[in-house]
Amino acid sequence: MCGIVGYIGFNQASDFLLDGMAKLEYRGYDSAGIAVIGAENAIKIQKKVGRLANLEAIVKADPNEGTVGIGHTRWATHGRPSDMNAHPHSSEDGKFAVVHNGIIENYMPLKEELIAKGYHFKSETDTEVVAHLLEDMYDGDFVSTVRRMLDRVDGAYALEIICADEPDKIICTKKENPLVIGLGKGENFVASDIPAIINYTRDTYILNDGELAIVTRDNVSVFDRAGHAIDKEVFHVSWNAEAAEKGGYEHFMLKEIHDQPKAVRDTFGTHISEDGKTAIFDELNWTADDVAAFNKILIVACGTAYHAGLVTKQYIESLARISVNVEIASEYRYSNPLTDDKTLCIVISQSGETSDTLAALKEAKRLGAKSLAITNVVGSSISREADNTVYTWAGPEISVASTKAYTTQLVAGLLFAVYLGQLNGKMDPALGEEILCGVKNLPTLIHEIFEVDEDMKAFAKHYGFKSDAFFLGRAIDYAVAMEGALKLKEISYIHAEAYAGGELKHGTLALIEEGVPVIALATQEDVYDKMISNIREVKAREAVVIGIGMKGDEELSKHVDHTIYVPRANKFIAPILAVVPLQLLAYYAAITRGADVDKPRNLAKSVTVE
Ligand code: F6R
Repeated sequence: MCGIVGYIGFNQASDFLLDGMAKLEYRGYDSAGIAVIGAENAIKIQKKVGRLANLEAIVKADPNEGTVGIGHTRWATHGRPSDMNAHPHSSEDGKFAVVHNGIIENYMPLKEELIAKGYHFKSETDTEVVAHLLEDMYDGDFVSTVRRMLDRVDGAYALEIICADEPDKIICTKKENPLVIGLGKGENFVASDIPAIINYTRDTYILNDGELAIVTRDNVSVFDRAGHAIDKEVFHVSWNAEAAEKGGYEHFMLKEIHDQPKAVRDTFGTHISEDGKTAIFDELNWTADDVAAFNKILIVACGTAYHAGLVTKQYIESLARISVNVEIASEYRYSNPLTDDKTLCIVISQSGETSDTLAALKEAKRLGAKSLAITNVVGSSISREADNTVYTWAGPEISVASTKAYTTQLVAGLLFAVYLGQLNGKMDPALGEEILCGVKNLPTLIHEIFEVDEDMKAFAKHYGFKSDAFFLGRAIDYAVAMEGALKLKEISYIHAEAYAGGELKHGTLALIEEGVPVIALATQEDVYDKMISNIREVKAREAVVIGIGMKGDEELSKHVDHTIYVPRANKFIAPILAVVPLQLLAYYAAITRGADVDKPRNLAKSVTVE
């Protein structure tokens, strides 16, 4: 996740670039930079680590007159947030400047090749290879050089490039990352997303994968990969600026629910071997001895991340047979814990800044534990404090209620459990392969679940004004029930409680009476019959039951009032699917009750107080 912008026209380029980047800061804000073609066609680069305001101060102190430029706001992937790693990157001869959103997967061999030829790299980024490759392959023709350069790079990218020899154009292209061209009069705009350009023009070209655009002041020509001109259709944006930032969705939460297929794909990205048989964690590179060095695992986290920890416990215990304790971070610190140098402490945190989690991590380290962070924010305090970090790649999560961060935490937890099981030999290799295949299928399966959107909307309308709801599940489904209840509580303000199916009769069954909504999860086949018995118990007290089951489970619908099916999947994959209808239910319940979905009362996105 990064945001890129470009401008060519008659105004000072930096004005649009800074304004457009501000609209794209939701895509990352580790650093920002611009490259503008100035006097005598020299490319001037200004860039700075940290928020856009840091760059703005530099540009204000040293303004650019140039009318052609590109800009970038960064969400660090390769290389920590720093001035040097900030984009744009330039070739050594200063002829080319590049901004990039994505990952050049084969950058290491390219980098080695370029270093062997004598090129010097200033940054740790994958992007810098593009700039040096352009210099290396330059044949005096900007367009043909870019085309040949693209033949050499693999991976995902949205790229914008300027060249001092041809200062009258920006070349841009994309593969698997978004790029939009805004069509003006005597000026044209490029951006990762519509919010950056909507105040300047509403006529756009949305580039498709493999397309390359040559953008000049008066013209935009688009070509396919083979160099054939494409007659692009103009897409007229009818949304307002605020709606555009949400990609057309009414709220960030709904957008983020729909971001999940991509977020999950980006997270399992490099962690599954090409043959699909092995979980890989290059950032850890552990051996069987490293795993044998700890005899227990402690997971600490808060809120939704804690629920991800509860699921991860079951993954690790089932697949690697290592004992796992999950602790609420704010409790762990004061519990006189039995952590020692044979403990692996895993902290899970979307923001990487939650102070309770950070303090728990420090405490575990003080007691001798080895530590591993699972976080969504590169360079965050927790990632810096932990011995090792595994990143989720959900992209910025803006809605206070966590959705895509949670599902990516489950994916990271599951892959890590497979990794441990492979290393210590406690997992059946065939099961490992089945799980990895299931993980790769997740984006498609999550897409399928969006079909239940209308059902969830209808349930929310129907039950949204009840004051209580209960969520039931057994085994991993119990942890999912807890997450479902939290989502409903925090955004719709409906009181909700999650119970392990078998526990209800020990007290809470007293609260079940006619019409009380119960959401019952029944995706775990090992405990399926027991779950059906628990459903019958609440039905006998005239609760209204929504059952969440696996496609093809006709038995479930005989026992509940409404059934929501998720695609049939392995029991370790099922929780990642089953939570999606619960997120939608919470979302629509909040809408029904007129609540402020993205900013629920009394809450904040990043909790940096104890
Ligand atoms: C709920 C939610 C919170 C966070 C919790 C931890 O939707 O988002 O419960 O999960 O505050 O935050 P992080 O993951 O940033 O440590």
